[in-house]
Amino acid sequence: MRISVIGTGYVGLVTGTCLAETGNEVVCVDINEQKVQKMRNGEVPIYEPHLDVLFDRNIKAGRLTFSTSLEEGLEHGEIIFLALPTPEDEDGSADLSYVLGVADDIGKRITEYKVIVDKSTVPVGTAEKVQEVIAKNAKCDFDVVSNPEFLREGFAVDDFLKPERIVVGSSSQRATELMEKLYKPFVRSGNPIIIMDEKSAELTKYAANSFLAAKITFMNEIANYCEKVGADVDKVRRGMGTDSRIGKRFLFPGIGYGGSCFPKDVKALHKSGKDVDYDFQILDSVIKVNQKQKTALLPKIKTYFDNDLDDKTFAVWGLAFKPETDDIREAPALYLIDELLNAGAKVKAFDPEAMDNVKRKYEDRIQFSKTMYEALDNTDALIICTEWSIFRTPDFKKIKDSLKENVIFDGRNLYDISDVEKEGVSYFSIGRKD
Ligand code: UGA
Repeated sequence: MRISVIGTGYVGLVTGTCLAETGNEVVCVDINEQKVQKMRNGEVPIYEPHLDVLFDRNIKAGRLTFSTSLEEGLEHGEIIFLALPTPEDEDGSADLSYVLGVADDIGKRITEYKVIVDKSTVPVGTAEKVQEVIAKNAKCDFDVVSNPEFLREGFAVDDFLKPERIVVGSSSQRATELMEKLYKPFVRSGNPIIIMDEKSAELTKYAANSFLAAKITFMNEIANYCEKVGADVDKVRRGMGTDSRIGKRFLFPGIGYGGSCFPKDVKALHKSGKDVDYDFQILDSVIKVNQKQKTALLPKIKTYFDNDLDDKTFAVWGLAFKPETDDIREAPALYLIDELLNAGAKVKAFDPEAMDNVKRKYEDRIQFSKTMYEALDNTDALIICTEWSIFRTPDFKKIKDSLKENVIFDGRNLYDISDVEKEGVSYFSIGRKD
């Protein structure tokens, strides 16, 4: 099939590349000329495991091409994916100006039947708005479909190629059939393509992300309570998670969720509720609890150092909002670092992928280290903010020999308490008996 993807951000790029992998002819459109030129040369503009291999293969096969021309994109695709940014407005709602701007162009330019697919996470009612904007000028038939994306950063290629489900919001038989044909190779294992109306599909995405954010936040509150009453959240988590109605996943407590999706989507759903006079109280709590959780290690650090962080130096392992990404948006590490700097402390940081992004933001306000052990030199204590695999089995002797104060503050519960204490290192984590 002939596919166009408008917008080569994270979702657009993964969508375009993976659709080319099943033999479709894909044109990816972006207004950024420099970016398009780099992609034409085979450069993947984001860090995402396995994407480079697919990218290279499909470019060489001529199935994946790039353009700065919206006109070319609109002419090429029988299915046109809109994978455009929907940034957070000042009031927390999603800004639809990019999506509706392109919709306006689509209406003016299309000359034959097209299916326009909303792939971006957009508020309930957006497909209807896109439909109206296109219809203002369109001289031919078209359908608008909502097809939310459930990719996780770091696992995006796998999630796209082997999805647990595909949600399609469509009220047109013609468009539904084309979408089913397109996605058939991805659901060979029997996972469902769930067809529903557009509004329900749009809400499915927000509901899924908000539910997962609430699940994590609930566990973070249980962890905080464990600390007060002397229970161990690891044990509670195992006890709860074995109930199949609850499930084992997304029950790991820590210093809060971050990234470009959960924070934005929870806020947007909360705001959408307000717009129709519905008060999503549970989401209000999720937002507030998560914000506080990002600096949950701070009181522990302050207590340990008698409230005097002035001129202390902290090694921080992990800056990305989660492992396997260089994404630092809403990363808990940065909130904690800001608090440490405000308290007069110094920071030496290490992250396997995200340091360049943090350097751009902090410049010389913090130091960066080439290795995780170099970050420990001349520092008072170690703080862990992201659960990269490389941090899971460290050389505790090296840690002990380098730190001035043999102490680790762990925001991701990476180690068994007994293993660390055996090494003679003090250990503070989240929701466990410290
Ligand atoms: C999330 C969803 O998982 C995807 O399904 C969705 O498509 C995507 O948002 C999106 O809307 O585009 P992502 O933001 O890549 O994906 O990251 P997750 O792996 O879901 O992690 C989100 C945050 O939750 C991270 O900060 C992670 O550290 C935190 N988390 C996750 C926990 O604190 N505890 C857990 O048990 C699980």
